[in-house]
Amino acid sequence: DKNSTVSITVVGASGDLAKKKIFPALFALFYEDCLPEHFTVFGYARSKMTDAELRNMVSKTLTCRIDKRENCGEKMEQFLKRCFYHSGQYDSEDNFTELDKKLKEHEAGRVSNRLFYLSIPPNIFIDAVKCASLSASSANGWTRVIVEKPFGRDSESSAALTNGLKQYLAEDQIFRIDHYLGKELVENLSVLRFSNLIFEPLWSRQYIRNVQFIFSEDFGTEGRGGYFDNYGIIRDIMQNHLLQILALFAMETPVSLDAEDIRNEKVKVLRSMRPLQLEDVVIGQYKSHTKGGVTYPAYTDDKTVPKDSLTPTFAAAALFIDNARWDGVPFLMKAGKALHTKGAEIRVQFRHVPGNLYNRNFGTDLDRATNELVIRVQPDEAIYLKINNKVPGLGMRLDRSNLNLHYAARYSKEIPDAYERLLLDAIEGERRLFIRSDELDAAWALFTPLLKELEEKKIIPEYYPHGSRGPVGAHYLAARYNVRWGDLS
Ligand code: BG6
Repeated sequence: DKNSTVSITVVGASGDLAKKKIFPALFALFYEDCLPEHFTVFGYARSKMTDAELRNMVSKTLTCRIDKRENCGEKMEQFLKRCFYHSGQYDSEDNFTELDKKLKEHEAGRVSNRLFYLSIPPNIFIDAVKCASLSASSANGWTRVIVEKPFGRDSESSAALTNGLKQYLAEDQIFRIDHYLGKELVENLSVLRFSNLIFEPLWSRQYIRNVQFIFSEDFGTEGRGGYFDNYGIIRDIMQNHLLQILALFAMETPVSLDAEDIRNEKVKVLRSMRPLQLEDVVIGQYKSHTKGGVTYPAYTDDKTVPKDSLTPTFAAAALFIDNARWDGVPFLMKAGKALHTKGAEIRVQFRHVPGNLYNRNFGTDLDRATNELVIRVQPDEAIYLKINNKVPGLGMRLDRSNLNLHYAARYSKEIPDAYERLLLDAIEGERRLFIRSDELDAAWALFTPLLKELEEKKIIPEYYPHGSRGPVGAHYLAARYNVRWGDLS
């Protein structure tokens, strides 16, 4: 629209997230001509910086997928001309009023739409939202605020944060990011389920034996210990990223693709789940390990982590959904840092074929004979289905082969970063991939009692060597439900 403008203010512009994700994503959107004709990007932070210095900083942090392209330099110049900086305190209405003045100059009388991305520590969220909304919200268009986890550390603190935000913003102005929802294969989950006849009829306790959500990183907290130690892997990955994927995986068919219809179904499935008990989880923490002459540090070697920290850097959990579709099916989650590999996968293990004529091919190891659907969220995105197949030849021997959809081979276009999708959606007012407050409440209700118990009882994590496959306890946990973890492929 020629008569309107969008101003994007990155509050906390010199922080890690802004540099690594937000500016590169904004540039990628600009490069792809996805941003509106009239837009301005403002960096806002406490340190003194000129526009030129901000531009210099942004240009240096451009490590996005676009920077390999030929005309990147030229586009970059154009983009940087739209970037400005305003220095201010996060809790100063006066400083936000000054920002408001600058934004107005850029808007030049057009309809003003304003997006604030809060890339700041959670203890100053409310102050910043207050100042932005009282002093710098749009007078004649929309004002939206993107916030990113941590949304509290338990049900109570999350509710306090929600209430704080709601003093200044309506729920439909708040865009809570869970960047896993912006990942291509997570978004594709609904397409896979609801636009193919062959999956949905099998999507229940009748045919599915267990489902696994696995997240693994091959590096430790590296400098982020200060944040991480107060949260731990359960809050950092499970309560949000993995649980969101689970909700999309397990929800009933929504009435439509409308954001409210989808989020209604996600809340329903979250509310059908049993809160986790201590015996449903295994926690771990990485210890130092020397391999090939190199010593990899322990979690507690991180300078920002207390030496006696019990914070889990690994957790495995068994969750259950008490509804007609999923009664009794174990949903297993596993998430860890400093493991042997990096990746995220969903694995669906189907039941055995009843009275299988070919069982003799597999001996007593029926596990090997069952179908498995693997959705590899990252890296090297893929969806494949393990099926039994006759090995060509005169004999009758079966093996397991993959029906394989390998994204790199099938699609020539690069996969956008999750933040590109999410920023674009926020600009367009599409809320499907953002977390509604009742979803957040339901997610905390599942994990809060467990988290409190772990902390009150000072449960000691199982120590695992940096770079290993994690605590063996995870295998015992799975075995209790007759499950064998899939190996990240
Ligand atoms: C973040 C966590 O939400 O997700 C980090 O705070 C984690 O600890 C990161 O490393 C993983 O995201 P991605 O997109 O790199 O898999």
